[in-house]
Amino acid sequence: MTPNITQHTMPQPAACTAAAATHRGRATASRIALHRATCRTARDYLALVGDLLDSPEVTALHDYRHHRTTRHQHVLNVSWYSFLLARLTHMDAAAAARAGLLHDLYYYNFCDWQSTKRHHIYHHPQQALDNASRLTDVSPIEADVILNHMWPMSPDRPHYKETYLISCIDKYCCLLELSAGFLSALGRRCRALLHRPVFHKGGQA
Ligand SMILES: [Fe+2]
Repeated sequence: MTPNITQHTMPQPAACTAAAATHRGRATASRIALHRATCRTARDYLALVGDLLDSPEVTALHDYRHHRTTRHQHVLNVSWYSFLLARLTHMDAAAAARAGLLHDLYYYNFCDWQSTKRHHIYHHPQQALDNASRLTDVSPIEADVILNHMWPMSPDRPHYKETYLISCIDKYCCLLELSAGFLSALGRRCRALLHRPVFHKGGQA
């Protein structure tokens, strides 16, 4: 089957009707709200990626589902945690933060993908790199991260330590998002059970 090419094109700025660009959100399980940027770490992070976060191309990722959340939330998670760990380990934090935001910059829902899962795994990194290159200057490290973030399932091995880091954080964020979705669904179910009226004998609540 051939993929639906029309779903892979970059969105036009006027067509980006998702969340307002000024809302930058926060990473899952993080207490730091990026749109307030009250702490120095968040300010440093925004200095590196603020232009990307506010771009219509990245904002449009709010419209796509990804691991029980949105793709925007996923790339924000990968970018934020990659930035923190890269800084801690004296890697290239700027490349980690920017590549984290760009590594899944493609515009289709996986469930709409008209080819095999295997094809998607090999296809979307190149799609993301093409879209990222149209959006901004992409450094060699960032390009390697985007192309090989599916490692060890990628055809190539990573060429930079930042790629290994982000590849691992991508998988960690996947688990984080899946478990956060499960836990919030469980919480909703428990609240619904707690607030359910209790019926006694005789039909009185
Ligand atoms: Fe990802």
